[in-house]
Amino acid sequence: MSEQQGSAPAAGAGGEVNVFELVGGLPWFTALVERFYEGVAVDPVLRPMYPEDLTGSVAHTAGFLAQYFGGGWSYYSEERGHPRLRMRHAPFPIDQQARDHWLAHMLAAVRGGGLAPEVEAVVVEYFERASQFMVNVEPDDGRRRLTVKPVPKGDPEGG
Ligand code: HEM
Repeated sequence: MSEQQGSAPAAGAGGEVNVFELVGGLPWFTALVERFYEGVAVDPVLRPMYPEDLTGSVAHTAGFLAQYFGGGWSYYSEERGHPRLRMRHAPFPIDQQARDHWLAHMLAAVRGGGLAPEVEAVVVEYFERASQFMVNVEPDDGRRRLTVKPVPKGDPEGG
């Protein structure tokens, strides 16, 4: 009989407990993502990027987060494969503004999640970093870019 059994979350050898265990599993992530998508649903920058029916988006995002925070491969990758999140987001133009909107909705959702401050800090830090990593449209820096003019077809001496 190990003292790790019972109602307390299973702790690793170092006494560490992952976020998935601390929050009690998938339902917490589903509720988080539902709060998050309530914000997305009325956001003029983000809403147009998402499908009309957000059911799949909720399930996939909650499953991914449950997996990422320690729940295991079955929550996302068994069905969806390797996350490859930057690649999956490539079809959507995510600039700094879109990222900031996304993060604002997610942080509001996290703050409604009743986490202990030290756990909340870990989750917030992750979303700040992960959302920045998803930016795939850089701002126009105002520099002129040279494009090559096509050479004329026909007479090779230009006559
Ligand atoms: C930075 C701004 C972001 C924008 C604008 C954005 C936008 C989107 C869009 C439009 C979709 C497609 C909707 C769908 O497939 O239902 C999507 C899917 C998804 N996003 Fe994001 N996203 C952002 C950041 C993130 C971050 C930081 C994460 C994870 C930490 C994430 C996780 C996911 C997941 C797991 C999916 C579903 C992938 C799948 O098809 O299995 N996204 N996102």
